[in-house]
Amino acid sequence: MRQPYRSFQILSLSIVLAVLAGCASHPQNQAGQVSRKPFGTTKNGIAVDLFTLRNKNGAEAKISNYGGLVVSLKVPDRTGKLGDVVLGYDTLDGYLKETPYFGALIGRYGNRIAKGKFTLDGNQYTLATNNYPNALHGGVKGFDKVVWTPKIIAGADGPGLQLEYVSKDGEEGYPGTLSVTAVYTLTSDNALKLAYTAITDKDTVVNLTHHSYFNLAGKGDILGHVVMIPASRYTPVDSTLIPTGELADVTGTPFDFRTATAIGARIKQDNEQLKFGGGYDHNWVLDKAMDQYGLAARVYEPTTGRVMEVLSTEPGLQFYSGNFLDSKITGKGGWVYKFRNGFCMEPQHYPDSPNQPNFPSVVLKPGQIYRNTIVYRFATR
Ligand code: BGC
Repeated sequence: MRQPYRSFQILSLSIVLAVLAGCASHPQNQAGQVSRKPFGTTKNGIAVDLFTLRNKNGAEAKISNYGGLVVSLKVPDRTGKLGDVVLGYDTLDGYLKETPYFGALIGRYGNRIAKGKFTLDGNQYTLATNNYPNALHGGVKGFDKVVWTPKIIAGADGPGLQLEYVSKDGEEGYPGTLSVTAVYTLTSDNALKLAYTAITDKDTVVNLTHHSYFNLAGKGDILGHVVMIPASRYTPVDSTLIPTGELADVTGTPFDFRTATAIGARIKQDNEQLKFGGGYDHNWVLDKAMDQYGLAARVYEPTTGRVMEVLSTEPGLQFYSGNFLDSKITGKGGWVYKFRNGFCMEPQHYPDSPNQPNFPSVVLKPGQIYRNTIVYRFATR
């Protein structure tokens, strides 16, 4: 008699939990809360949601399980007023029609792979050349365009959203089934933290990153933002933005951001690398030790006083100054995204690493666990 009664209790508890899980709002611990509402339906008819993470200070991140998109991120300015510091769209439809990877999770390989080809364990793999003549950001349907399985979690340091995706063997041309978990947490110290882990069942290449376009003023161009990058070297590129293989000294070049400098201060200099990128669109070789968690960049916006620190375990940082924004996209609240109205700070491994024997390896093997933590931490000055 006792056994069925216990099962009944467990069943009732499960029903209560399931009902709670279905509720629109999830009050959590002291650290904040997460709520969930429908965001729309993908081209394949899959319904996706928008999760609002709010920490105890009132900072707020809206994140979708479509592409893991950070749709909005509200943090205080120096007067305490909250403002949205990322570019994007008000609706899912905007993202489905056209997006230069606004706010997205990027994978399986962030950045470019030359001519969409690489060799691993003696086998040659061919990827879509979606950024002619190269492969960019994981292919035609990268991790930014897939539906992730969401789970609301109460992280120790703030409300969180766990996203899971299994990329099949051969998907977008990459070998091996890659199971990826991405956990976003909006921490109590106003940081949006992204922690990736991944495992594979065959040797593969992995380079995951995040692609929010930031504008800490919430309007206008980003040329007055003051940037510091602790990197003595960067990876110069050819005209198709593929690294030449050299780790070049930044001293005396517009790529030296070891002393904080406005983005616009040197961006128009007569410099071949700036011409190739149409501005900054390069990978900096961070001075910190490989795999060590530490500062990758600090950005200060003088009119609002907002400061964003980028911290990461990754060895490189792609700093992209929004050179391909060209007024063709009207984003949130009717803002026409003009040339350099947003910038990206993408901690990652160096571009084209699968073809560059001198760059740190991006190979993941069965039995190994890929880990990558990216943090955007906000403060004011
Ligand atoms: C790249 C740019 C590219 C952009 C796509 C960035 O990560 O560095 O070259 O155009 O993504 O929007």
